[in-house]
Amino acid sequence: KSIYVLNGPNLNLLGKRQPEIYGHETLEDVERLCEGVATDGFEIRVLQSNHEGQIIDWIHEARENACGIVINPAAFTHTSVAILDALNTFDGPVIEVHISQVHKRESFRHHSYVSHRADGVIAGLGLEGYAAGVRRICQLVDAHR
Ligand code: DQA
Repeated sequence: KSIYVLNGPNLNLLGKRQPEIYGHETLEDVERLCEGVATDGFEIRVLQSNHEGQIIDWIHEARENACGIVINPAAFTHTSVAILDALNTFDGPVIEVHISQVHKRESFRHHSYVSHRADGVIAGLGLEGYAAGVRRICQLVDAHR
């Protein structure tokens, strides 16, 4: 079974983009980290897009192919009812991750549409948030097997 690790806009530049906020590590590091913590039998698929519709299509694909979703919707967190609606069609656990501590930043980052669906929300732990998200999904899915 797969765990989808979905990443929204500008996260392709992770490591280069505002490193004082997001650090120097890249999405490849996210992939390695997630693979390192996934328990036996789980396959990790790290995906990134700058396009809202692509993220929605991947969530629909996850309905068939994934047992859980870790999602950093990036700026779409604060704008996208459509991503929330897509996540509401998915039955497995969803963990929302933000690399930075969004609640310490501008007030427009304090509200998340995705949090209305997420089973867990992690902010400010850096890339460790992704690892925690994957661990939690393995735990929840294993408990139901
Ligand atoms: C982010 C926080 C968002 O507010 C921002 O738009 C991002 C990244 C984070 O990981 O800290 O692009 O989701």
